[in-house]
Order: sequence, then structure tokens, then C-alpha cells
Amino acid sequence: MTLDYMNKNRPQISIIIPTYNESQNILNILKSIGDIIPKNVFTEAIVVDDNSPDGTGKIVEDYLKSVKKIAGYTIDIIHRTTKNGLSSAILSGIQRAAGDTIIVMDSDLSHPPQIIPKMIETLKKYQCDMVVASRYITGGQINGWNTKRKFLSKVATMIAKRGLNVKTNDPMSGFFAFRKGILKGLSFDAIGFKILLEILVKKRGLDVKEIPYTFQDRKLGSSKLNSSIVFDYIKSVWKLYRSNKLEENNEKRNSVKFFSKAGRFYTIGASGFAINYLISLMLSGGITEIWYLYANIIGIITSMTSNFVFNKWWTFGDRNFSFKKTISQYSKFITFSSLGALIQIGVVFSLVDNNNWVYSTALGVGVLTGAFSNFILNKKWTFKEKLWQ
Ligand code: GDD
Ligand code: MN
Repeated sequence: MTLDYMNKNRPQISIIIPTYNESQNILNILKSIGDIIPKNVFTEAIVVDDNSPDGTGKIVEDYLKSVKKIAGYTIDIIHRTTKNGLSSAILSGIQRAAGDTIIVMDSDLSHPPQIIPKMIETLKKYQCDMVVASRYITGGQINGWNTKRKFLSKVATMIAKRGLNVKTNDPMSGFFAFRKGILKGLSFDAIGFKILLEILVKKRGLDVKEIPYTFQDRKLGSSKLNSSIVFDYIKSVWKLYRSNKLEENNEKRNSVKFFSKAGRFYTIGASGFAINYLISLMLSGGITEIWYLYANIIGIITSMTSNFVFNKWWTFGDRNFSFKKTISQYSKFITFSSLGALIQIGVVFSLVDNNNWVYSTALGVGVLTGAFSNFILNKKWTFKEKLWQ
């Protein structure tokens, strides 16, 4: 994974800027982005406007008609018909983005565009997945918020870190850069404001770097954060918390199931060995006097059959003993058991012959491999279970 921005004729960096009633800010932010972005990197800004009543969308359109193009910098605007929330606006922007690197920021100059080059540098230098501009690491600051807002922000951050086990120090940040590829396969709730938090929770193990910045409260226009956004926050944290717990439990339950079934399968395998041995011995001298090879064959068939019945009943909990189904399962079971035997012989042979292993060790590995492939094949094809559960 490298970031190579040179000589490309499509934008490499897409800056997503959601707006709602930002007529006094939007041109300032677009211009200052144009001033600071590195000239050798093709950058696009994508404004996502929700049909702002103050005409933000039209202001951008008019500006685009009048302004002369700056090399390596394009501006695009998405007009959505209604106010649909910050998170969903950001997602709309990302869908439109052509760049491999996405930067998300507010339009009200609270997020200083001056640190964008450093964000890009950091992504490149550490080859990490994401760079979060953080108010809550050394060097970070908030200017212009009253104590109440600062307190609320701290509480919200603490809830996210403790409750959702997020390691990033400013998961509430609205200013971050990431490689677009990391979103592959994710589906979003996109409730309210906190899209970064949702990414961090749903995509555990991302390599995230933080760089400090000073958040400057807006000078113009008004904040869209109101009590319903706070309620949205609680709702989305709760939803993330629930889905997180469910996933953890499922994962735990699946591994417990898998290993306890494997344990049963091996136990029954050992009992089959005992049955096989005893019957072969008894029939060839204990109770009857038949030829020892016949006795051995009967021993093998009996133990395979008892293995089948026990595994069907106990390991895989299948209580349907209808004739047709049972016969078909039985024949598969015998086939896979023979296959397991072949695999065992193959493993032993190749370890001893090609790798000069001692026979006793090779036999141990061979038996385990054979039994394991037996388990997997029968689980999947005879008893039609998912592998991992
Ligand atoms: N398209 C669209 N639709 N944009 C929206 C909407 C919406 O429904 N709601 C808000 N925005 C835009 C605003 O126009 C602004 O550019 C940005 O989203 C942030 O909104 P503000 O109203 O300025 O929010 P804030 O300053 O209170 O919140 C900031 O601080 C939080 C950290 O505590 C934002 O930076 C948040 O992203 C950040 O999480
Ligand atoms: Mn703001």
C-alpha cells in the first residue's frame, strides 16, 4: 500500500464538506483549502448541501461559474433535497469521491485547513489507515466553547471510550483522513453526527494515528448541534453497543461450539477404537472361533457404525433417524472415514519417507490429521453444518 499522488489525472484526495446554512462560511473554507493543499496532489472538494434555506448551494454554484480554475484543485457540489443529518451527508460525499484518500471536515472553519498537509503526510509516512485530528491529545485545544459544551463533549468522549472500548482519544472528531478502501463491506446506521465513531467501532483494529489541532468555534452562522442530535448520539451509541456485544457473544459461542463438538468427535473416535479392538479380539477366540481377519473386518464395521450413530446423536445433535436420511448420511460417513484413513496413511508415509520422521511421531500426527479431516468433512457434508459453529 503506497500513496502515489503524482501524474494522475483523477483526484487523489477528496475532501468532503457537509453544509447546512453555511452561506457565510462556505466560500472562505473552499478558498483556504485551495491555498493550502500541496500543488503536486490532485485534490477535489465535495460540498454536500442539504438544500440549505440560506442559499448555500446556490452560492457555491455561482462561485463555480465565476472562479477561474486552480491547477490540481476541483470543486464539486452534491445537492440533497432535505436535511438528512451530518453522518449521512458525509456518506453521500464519500460515494461521489474519486480519491483514494478521503478527508472529512466541517465547513464553518472550526477545522483549520492548515493541518491538511500534515494529515496527508502522516498517512503516507506511517502507511496507516486513518489520521484523526484530535483535540484531546497533547497540543490539542478547544477555543470558544463554554464550560457546559466542553463538559458534554468530554462526557460523550468518555462514554465512547469506556462503553465501546474505542482507543482513539478523540472519537467525536469531525476532522479525519482515511483510505477509502477501509470502508469496504461496512454498512452504516449513519444516525446523527458521529460517523467517525461508527467507523472505529465497526472496523476494529484499524491503524489510527492522531495529530493535535486547535478547534476554533465558529465565528459566523450557528451550530446545528441541538438536543435531538444529543439524543441521536445516545441512540447510536446504544445501537453500536448492542451490535458489538452480540458479535462478541456469537464469536464466543461459535468457538465454544466448534471445540466442544471436536472434543465429542475425538472421544467417540477413541471409543470406536476400543470397540474395534475388543470385538476383533472376542470374535477370534473369546466367544467364537472365526478367522481373525473376518473378526477384524467385523470389528471395523461395528466401530464405524457405532461411531456414526454416536456422532449423529451426540456430536451433531441430529435426532432424525428416518431410513432414507440415515442411510445417505451413513454412506457419506463411511466414505469420509475411509478418506480420513487414506489421509492418515499418506501423512505417515510422507513424514517417514520424505522427511525422515520417527514412525511413532509420524503416526501421532497422521492419526490427528486423519481424525481432524474426518471431523471437518462430516461436519460440513454429512451433517450439513457450518464449519465454524
Ligand atoms: N449536509 C448537512 N446536513 N450538513 C450538516 C448537517 C446536515 O443535516 N448538520 C450539520 N451539518 C454540517 C454543518 O454545516 C457544519 O459544516 C458541520 O456539519 C458541523 O456542524 P456544526 O453545527 O458546526 O456542528 P458543531 O460545531 O456543533 O459540531 C462539531 O463538533 C463536533 C465535536 O464535538 C462538528 O465538527 C462535529 O463533526 C464534531 O463531531
Ligand atoms: Mn461547528
